[in-house]
Amino acid sequence: PVKKVAGKGAGAGMLRDIPKMLEITSAVVKAVNIPVTVKTRTGWDADHRIIATLAEQLQDCGIKALTVHGRTRAQMYTGRADWEMIARVKENPRLTIPLIGNGDITTGQEAREAFDRYGVDGVMVGRASIGAPWIFRSMKAAITGEDEPMITDAEKFAILRRQITESIERIDEYRGILHIRRHLAASPLFKGIANFRDTRISMLRASTYDELSAILNQVEEQLSTQEIKRNPTTTQQI
Ligand SMILES: Cc1cc2nc3c(=O)[nH]c(=O)nc-3n(C[C@H](O)[C@H](O)[C@H](O)COP(=O)(O)O)c2cc1C
Repeated sequence: PVKKVAGKGAGAGMLRDIPKMLEITSAVVKAVNIPVTVKTRTGWDADHRIIATLAEQLQDCGIKALTVHGRTRAQMYTGRADWEMIARVKENPRLTIPLIGNGDITTGQEAREAFDRYGVDGVMVGRASIGAPWIFRSMKAAITGEDEPMITDAEKFAILRRQITESIERIDEYRGILHIRRHLAASPLFKGIANFRDTRISMLRASTYDELSAILNQVEEQLSTQEIKRNPTTTQQI
């Protein structure tokens, strides 16, 4: 939705020129031999929430699934995602492709509600997974009715380490670490630790894998031996 993208007619900017969006979608579907999916918002602004019609038009272009983020472009990330609107898209009997709902899902309970109340075929989770990629395991359990899984700190550290390694493999050491910083900064794993400020700064400034890994090892070790402690009210929110 950001101005430098949408202002050029790209990204959510395509919602301002639906004929062109449909033309691009059809052209992509024709050009490739793999399934094409679309992700879009509900419309450009409150006066143009056209997603119900648009969903059908996109399906007619030959896409194989549709994700709807329940906000307009004008909302950016303010307000709440409009899940009633997403449900209305799904209620259309002419829509036969899978519909994936997106926006503001942060817990297993909310993910489950998206299926139960709004009838979507899938959910997509963005911000809540930043720094907490293990959230998908809790969400999957809530959706399938299994018990909430106990995910230990050791597992969470292992997941973050893997994320760092994969990010480095995908790009390079320095930029891979730059990419991961915002995830570490947002991670609930490091929230509520007493006197953590200096360590947090070093963690977010580390520029090599070895440096970052040594800091993570130290934090993990200190948490496990209770040398450093989390505020108990914060722990419950992780
Ligand atoms: C850092 C960041 C990067 C994003 N990049 C993209 C992107 O490249 N393409 C896209 O369709 N949406 C992108 N989004 C939007 C998310 O996919 C999602 O639609 C939005 O965050 C709402 O879902 P959420 O409430 O679960 O975060 C991005 C969001 C964030 C926070």
